[in-house]
Amino acid sequence: MEEGQRQKPKKRRKLFWICIFVVVILVVVGIVLWVTLRKKSEAEEFKAVFTSRCKAYIEGYDCEKTWSAFQHAYVGKDPCLVPPDAYQLLVDAAPFEPACNRMMFWSKTKDVVHDLTSKRDCFITMEDTFLGTVLNELTWCSKEGSSDTFTSGCPGWTDCVNNTVSSFWSKASESYAQVACGSVSVMLNGSIAVPFNPTSIFASIEVKNFNPAIMKSLKVVLVTQEKEVSDCANPSLKNLQKELAQGIAYSCQEVPESQIQECALQPHKPCGSCW
Ligand SMILES: *[C@@H]1O[C@H](CO)[C@@H](O)[C@H](O)[C@H]1NC(C)=O
Ligand SMILES: *[C@@H]1O[C@H](CO)[C@@H](O)[C@H](O)[C@H]1NC(C)=O
Repeated sequence: MEEGQRQKPKKRRKLFWICIFVVVILVVVGIVLWVTLRKKSEAEEFKAVFTSRCKAYIEGYDCEKTWSAFQHAYVGKDPCLVPPDAYQLLVDAAPFEPACNRMMFWSKTKDVVHDLTSKRDCFITMEDTFLGTVLNELTWCSKEGSSDTFTSGCPGWTDCVNNTVSSFWSKASESYAQVACGSVSVMLNGSIAVPFNPTSIFASIEVKNFNPAIMKSLKVVLVTQEKEVSDCANPSLKNLQKELAQGIAYSCQEVPESQIQECALQPHKPCGSCW
């Protein structure tokens, strides 16, 4: 009787430590499971957005094939070591379709140009094309040795040049510019000192990829606001003219932003009379 009573606290202590041990194990397993499942759902959610946008764009399109060509570009790679050409297979699988006389480029005029293209069918920008629509505003990357897609913690412009997302847009801009045909337009910003900025995607990639065999002309629509900073005589626009391949005619017109917004609101007005 005395012996038994002395042993009880010992047994209790042992039980206590076993309980602590089990709780710790459960917490660790829980955390591991939560992290894995969350990552899985990040990847699954991304694929779901990709696939639903793909299916909505063209009925009957082989979205699985597009998805695997897309994955080929970045999965398993260091997200800072994905150059634009990694997306070659993707743009081959889903080539940019030329839309002669309706193709619109832009630089520093994103809002006004997309306000117009979302309301009127007159022009299309790269963001209105198949790949542009599917990947617009998305972030994605993988890791060396991983087969996963992550949507958070991915490097951007400020981290490295050859990052997963920027490289896609560089490749897409190059491919879209290569098929630009007929009369092409670009909306530039007249409220800044250098509307044609050499570091912009338009100057550094798109202009260099215009093909004079299929492209007749480039029209600059210089969007002006109340306080006009630059006009068509701006020195940077002279540079643009010089950089255009021979055989592509150049013109420039200053157009108030309000006029473009009005045009967006008049669905029955012919496109040609917007400016
Ligand atoms: C990015 O990739 C291109 C093409 O592979 C390469 O020429 C360039 O040096 C890379 N840039 C940097 C900063 O790593
Ligand atoms: C032009 O750039 C300025 C300064 O970044 C910006 O405030 C303005 O909205 C831009 N204009 C257009 C038409 O996008």
